[in-house]
Amino acid sequence: KGFMQRHGIPTARYQTFDARHLQEAISFLRTLQPPYVLKADGLCAGKGVLILPTLDEATATLQDMLGVTVAQGADVPSETVAGATPMFGSASSRVVIEEFLSGIECSVFVLTDGAHYQVLPEAKDYKRIGDNDEGPNTGGMGAVSPVPFADKQFMQKVEERIIRPTIDGLQADGIDYCGFIFFGLMNTDGEPYVIEYNVRMGDPETEVVMPRIESDFVELLDAATTGTLAQKQIKISADTCTTVVMVSEGYPGKYSKGVRMQLPANKDLTGIRIFHAGTATDENGQTISAGGRVLAVSGRGRTKDEAIANSYRGVGMVSFPHSFYRRDISKDLDKYYK
Ligand code: GLY
Repeated sequence: KGFMQRHGIPTARYQTFDARHLQEAISFLRTLQPPYVLKADGLCAGKGVLILPTLDEATATLQDMLGVTVAQGADVPSETVAGATPMFGSASSRVVIEEFLSGIECSVFVLTDGAHYQVLPEAKDYKRIGDNDEGPNTGGMGAVSPVPFADKQFMQKVEERIIRPTIDGLQADGIDYCGFIFFGLMNTDGEPYVIEYNVRMGDPETEVVMPRIESDFVELLDAATTGTLAQKQIKISADTCTTVVMVSEGYPGKYSKGVRMQLPANKDLTGIRIFHAGTATDENGQTISAGGRVLAVSGRGRTKDEAIANSYRGVGMVSFPHSFYRRDISKDLDKYYK
């Protein structure tokens, strides 16, 4: 967030606080409109962001995250006592309080050699466990690429206001960086804001981004390492790719592992590609589940409808007892296709 502020990159207003500054933190919360976004400053495997509907809930959760309580009888939070365990351990000993941005999210990826970049296909992922974006957050339950609202005009803004200033900012700050940058964006009424950066690709976005890249990807990676990315052209297919993630029952909570599954053999897999995320092979050579997110079933088509039909056709060919998947991947985007 400091990097974005320094380089004038659009992002939500924010401040960071620790337990010693609870009173200032609550005062800052009061300057914001609901809902309230609280983020653990440290790493929490994607689970450290909480969105609270009211000021009271935000204030209470903030205290839980920081591991402080207001001293009994005190009516102002300046009299706090430490001692409670922070909700996310040391990861939430500092908490970022952020303005809530409403809109629709998408993920943009670049490959950079530190000075130049190539923009990879953009994608939208589906983070909640349940249909209609209900239930707890997950690592990602599905994805689609391209994203229909990320049109030429929007992507031009992303490039001018976000990508270019990020690469320039890295150079200005003396950060020698070569690799992927993942821009988690919010489209608020056609204006892009950065929600987060990751220095990696996304999952399950990769399973819809990579199949659309027609250029030799090794050549691009090589050019990134030799500082010659500006001389390359990236060729991207106009096809749509979607993916539907099959997860273990109970995920993102407690789930069992070691469940045997049957993957399609001798079936027509045209337009379908199954990526293994959380599988293993048991002593009999049988594929078993070995994680929460187990398979990503990608579909490809000339249209989004064709792609998603292929994804779900692929899901239907997998026999994986006690699995779960969302049935509405990409449905929210229907209104954007003419
Ligand atoms: N799908 C979101 C991520 O990879 O962070």
